[in-house]
Amino acid sequence: MISVCALLVLGLKASDAVTVDYFEFGAGYYQSYGPSGEYLFDYEGNEMFHVDLESKSVVWTLPGLEKYTSFDPQGALQNINVAKYNLDLYIKSRNSTAATSIPPLITLYSAKPVVLGEPNILICCVNNIFPPVMNTTWFKNGQKNSDGFSETSFLPAKDYSFGRLHYLAFLPNEHDIYTCEVEHWGLDRPTRRVWQHEAPTPVSEAYQNVICALGLAVGIIGIIAGVMLIIKGMKQSAAQGRSQR
Ligand SMILES: *[C@@H]1O[C@H](CO)[C@@H](O)[C@H](O)[C@H]1NC(C)=O
Ligand SMILES: *[C@@H]1O[C@H](CO)[C@@H](O)[C@H](O)[C@H]1NC(C)=O
Repeated sequence: MISVCALLVLGLKASDAVTVDYFEFGAGYYQSYGPSGEYLFDYEGNEMFHVDLESKSVVWTLPGLEKYTSFDPQGALQNINVAKYNLDLYIKSRNSTAATSIPPLITLYSAKPVVLGEPNILICCVNNIFPPVMNTTWFKNGQKNSDGFSETSFLPAKDYSFGRLHYLAFLPNEHDIYTCEVEHWGLDRPTRRVWQHEAPTPVSEAYQNVICALGLAVGIIGIIAGVMLIIKGMKQSAAQGRSQR
């Protein structure tokens, strides 16, 4: 159906002085879906800037960084062109076989401990994204939320998948329910993660069940350890029996 393809992470060194991998690097991809691509510079997992391939300009992510350094977007565009060329060859050599989509991992949490009435940020963290084509939607009490949020670029991971963080500013209260919904070809259906305030409850049934399960687990570990000791003991006495002969 969709001929998405190969990802070409270029992995370029930022400067010759850099030998440690993943210290600082530029990475890009280009894919036939769209077609679309991305070129960004990463510093220890943080995006420093990306090049807007439409406007052919540099978009700085870390505020103030542009005062100390600069980047010629032409370099990025050239790399993207190389990726495009290689992708065309790759598609031909693979007889247009689409890349396999993998299910992304989604977690939703607050940036800091929640205090009711105190501004906070919800982070919808999506990892293991491949290919980098995804829709993320925020809902507040079931209604689509169309402002107050932002997101990162697709951040390249070492395993050639991507991560992307989505931020939603919110004012926690007892009633509002926030949902982050992700659509990706690796998922059978849009997948949601929900955040809502949970009043601390006295030892609830669920908690008691957890305690019970933990107790059971400790018991089982105890049994296994006991059995292993017995086996060990039997082996030792057997060995002693042999050596005495
Ligand atoms: C490529 O795909 C076409 C159409 O499915 C098929 O006829 C052809 O045999 C394939 N070639 C190779 C080399 O697999
Ligand atoms: C994202 O949304 C658009 C518009 O609804 C849709 O056409 C597209 O298939 C969606 N992408 C994914 C990965 O589900």
